[in-house]
Amino acid sequence: MRRQFGFSTTAIHGVPHRRPDWTPIAPALQQSSTFVNPVGSDDEVLYSRYGNNPNQLDLARKYALLEGADDAIFVASGMGATALAHLAVLRPGDHLISSTWIYGGTQHLFDRELARFGIEVTYVNPEQPRHWRKAVRKSTRAIFVETPTNPLMRIVDLGPITYAAEEEGLALLVDATFASPVNFRPLEHGADVVITSATKYLNGHSDVIAGAIAGSTSFVEEVNRLMRLWGQAIDPHAAWLIDRGMRTLALRMERHNTNGLAVAQWAEQHASVARVHYPGLPSHPDHERAKSVLQGFGGMVGLELKGGVKATERLLKRLEMIAHAPSLAGVETLVSEPRLTSHKGIGAEGRAKIGIPDGFLRLSCGIEDAADIIGDLEQGLK
Ligand SMILES: Cc1ncc(COP(=O)(O)O)c(C=O)c1O
Repeated sequence: MRRQFGFSTTAIHGVPHRRPDWTPIAPALQQSSTFVNPVGSDDEVLYSRYGNNPNQLDLARKYALLEGADDAIFVASGMGATALAHLAVLRPGDHLISSTWIYGGTQHLFDRELARFGIEVTYVNPEQPRHWRKAVRKSTRAIFVETPTNPLMRIVDLGPITYAAEEEGLALLVDATFASPVNFRPLEHGADVVITSATKYLNGHSDVIAGAIAGSTSFVEEVNRLMRLWGQAIDPHAAWLIDRGMRTLALRMERHNTNGLAVAQWAEQHASVARVHYPGLPSHPDHERAKSVLQGFGGMVGLELKGGVKATERLLKRLEMIAHAPSLAGVETLVSEPRLTSHKGIGAEGRAKIGIPDGFLRLSCGIEDAADIIGDLEQGLK
């Protein structure tokens, strides 16, 4: 019987096995677009755009194990993963149901690009769980949810959504980028497909753009077919870097989780802070759900300062260690303003409607010493 290995071991070795003498400990990077083909063979050719370069394949196998999926595939970006996953389930004239709490780029993809294929999208506010079922039409094929959400860190209840999806025979696709498979594995909660921006926690070092999709073998095969035609394969070097990043994923997440909680608890006590959004705090609306479904609360913290935009800009100009930059989930702490980045496109009114006032700061706590992250914020707020 095959032994079951733990998450950290799997993230390092995939399925551990005894290696022949002189095997390199670090995997070889096969930075090659193509490979020698046996003469007269009608076997599939090896060509990196097809995603069958060994670095691409090994990475996908390891990630599938971490998500508990039959199969997985890496592509050129998180947006590429979201786009291909939806193209794999939707046809012109189909209908998609999406949570309203989603990344701005995903919203544009749905509203502008899927619309071009005649695919309609109905948005459901997860605070009205009965609306999932109500939104279903004859042409509905799939439901899309992001959890934890960007940047309010809401934890969506997948219960009523999986119920509606199963009853109606719909595919449930979940973007769990903000959790990483350490903190939340959607397939264990009834999702059919998990989408992640590998740019974030999987890689963890702010030096790669990539995305991943995990699910059933037939689903991943369809994504693979689309990936080849839409030219979305991940570069072998990016795959190699993500594989290296994933070796420390479990350890990094432990520190992201403790730093996120320490910063959130400190911020909640600070006189200049009006509100903190962190699922590990009892004040967060989804704290109880977060405790029951997440293995850790993560490194993402939302902050509202009492002085609004003026106060946030003053803080941003004073920070020394923490860099003002979009993106998240790297080893270094970053801070950004959703009004100028992820949620720019929906305007001030749209943001206010979904609870992101101007002056909202999104902090991605890195793995530095918590005292130094807090120290930099403290001096910046003085
Ligand atoms: C939740 C979420 N999904 C997807 C993406 C897109 O990922 P990428 O930038 O790798 O295309 C992002 C980017 O910030 C994100 O926050």
